Amino acid sequence: MNAAPPTDGALVDRYGRVARDLRVSLTDKCNLRCTYCMPAEGLPWLAGPELLGDEEIVRLVRVAVRRLGVTEVRFTGGEPLIRPGLVGIVAAVAALEPRPRISLTTNGIGLDRLAPALRAAGLDRVNVSLDTLDPERFARLTRRPRLPDVLAGLAGATAAGLTPIKVNTVLMRGVNDDEAPALLRFALAQGYELRFIEQMPLDAQHGWDRATMVTADEILAHLHGEFALTPDPVERGAAPAETWLVDGGPARVGVIASVTRPFCGDCDRTRLTADGQVRACLFATEESDLRGALRAGADDDELARRWRAAMWGKRAGHGIDDPAFLQPARPMSAIGG
Ligand SMILES: C[S@@+](CC[C@H](N)C(=O)[O-])C[C@H]1O[C@@H](n2cnc3c(N)ncnc32)[C@H](O)[C@@H]1O
Ligand code: SF4
Repeated sequence: MNAAPPTDGALVDRYGRVARDLRVSLTDKCNLRCTYCMPAEGLPWLAGPELLGDEEIVRLVRVAVRRLGVTEVRFTGGEPLIRPGLVGIVAAVAALEPRPRISLTTNGIGLDRLAPALRAAGLDRVNVSLDTLDPERFARLTRRPRLPDVLAGLAGATAAGLTPIKVNTVLMRGVNDDEAPALLRFALAQGYELRFIEQMPLDAQHGWDRATMVTADEILAHLHGEFALTPDPVERGAAPAETWLVDGGPARVGVIASVTRPFCGDCDRTRLTADGQVRACLFATEESDLRGALRAGADDDELARRWRAAMWGKRAGHGIDDPAFLQPARPMSAIGG
């Protein structure tokens, strides 16, 4: 094990993992209030000056791509579609050499309107979050009656060619866990790849309970009644989702079992929050402040050095099952999921 971070090259950590996938949160705000994510009243949002400006974001992504070997950039939030400068940011990142792959994780509201401009700017594909197909349930779960907007957003993304489209679903016991087969039927019919995400202890209200969360095993059991699932022969690599062929394929379904089947050993992700903090992990309790350095006049070499140092300290695993586990102070919506 080496004692110090490398002084040039990629984002490696002391366990030999290399981070090539950058998740950038563009805002901590959102137009939904999913119960597993944030409280009804919202959260104390970041103040304007705390947020990175569009040019600051592009500068940091450029450092990541050109100096640190990042090949994949995913914009997220909060809800990234509500960031006014989104299309321009995507265009600037798409102009970088070497050009990274660019994707977006969104709740889909407004995507029907924005998809063509995002596609023209260089966005490659989207992940859209959808936890239920029932309008009333959707309104209870997200505290907003916006299911039609999400479905329109999905259709708009398809029409604009932002494919392959992945649909992210979090199942909650007694809320929507009976809907797994219906959601898969919907995804198969529309040509979306569905991925179930185990609920994680990242909600602002600290309401997560290991004893009641819906596990990967349960999700698969829900699906097995209706679908024949066989392990996907394609290598998983650093992908968080374990995938299965549905009824012999080629359609697939995935499960991101962060809690019951952690994949930390293969993690290739690094994260930048909307206020310019590098996080080595969703569950990190430490952050490294690039915004302060950038605004104090640091050059790209210095920013890259700080980023490498931050990733060098990445822990081996998230430790959710460790009795000493502490939920990070930042909720998911402020980290960027
Ligand atoms: C935080 S959201 C941000 C992007 C966008 N607002 C959206 O909902 O897709 C990213 C993803 O994290 C998921 N998520 C939020 N809180 C979660 C939690 N406590 N456990 C697991 N997934 C969660 C959401 O369902 C969504 O798929
Ligand atoms: S999961 Fe996404 S859409 Fe739902 S409240 Fe959190 S940030 Fe908003």
